[in-house]
Amino acid sequence: MSNPFIVIGNWKMNKTIQEALDFVEALPPLFTSNYLAVPYTCIYPLSELDIPMLQIGAQNVYPEPEGAYTGEISTAMIKDAGADFVILGHSERRSLFSESNAFINKKVKAALLQDLNAIVCIGESAMDRDQKKTTEVLKTQLLESLNEIEPSALSCVTIAYEPIWAIGTGQPATPQAAQEVHFQIRKIIEEKWGPKEAKEISILYGGSVSHETVTELKDQPDVDGVLVGGAALNIEKYTQIIDLVGGPNT
Ligand code: PGA
Repeated sequence: MSNPFIVIGNWKMNKTIQEALDFVEALPPLFTSNYLAVPYTCIYPLSELDIPMLQIGAQNVYPEPEGAYTGEISTAMIKDAGADFVILGHSERRSLFSESNAFINKKVKAALLQDLNAIVCIGESAMDRDQKKTTEVLKTQLLESLNEIEPSALSCVTIAYEPIWAIGTGQPATPQAAQEVHFQIRKIIEEKWGPKEAKEISILYGGSVSHETVTELKDQPDVDGVLVGGAALNIEKYTQIIDLVGGPNT
């Protein structure tokens, strides 16, 4: 049997604690594991609800274990608050906060040390795509962000392919284009870590995912799930996505 299709909602900097509680209480019964990456302030109240099949995670973390890093939060702290996973290297972190692959690599190592699943985001810009550099750019991001990660540790890593030009634009990659890129990503993983790791790792697509595209994305052999931003903020839109790919009849 193949693995269930993964849906991760990324709330970004949205929702107060009460709004988060209202959203989660309105979710339909979940039949496969679902994931919500929420603001730090919402991790504890949502994980306390202990909703079956719902995993709560963070959208970022600082790699040092503790110390004089005013305003930052460690992997132990998010774990203590109830996080099961953390998104790392999102393109908004890379562009707005100048995060490098080397810095993201430190975060991946710190997350794995705490037994947190690391959702590592990679993606090319419109210019990279137009210059036909997509595979080259993704390869660098992948190999540098996962530098020194052992094959055995990859079982706690998920890749999210998010083309920058598709994020928040309402213009997703076509399912076929996503499939082609996911195939290349799997090939890079096979060359570096081996065929078993390439087969087992989950590769998600993110960038303007909606109920209109999710079913066709699910049909692609190398698309193992989706990372949903805007549509994950609205309970009706998010429920539609969950029902289409993770409902009782899918
Ligand atoms: P979007 O965001 O679905 O709003 O494009 C996806 C993301 O940034 O993870």
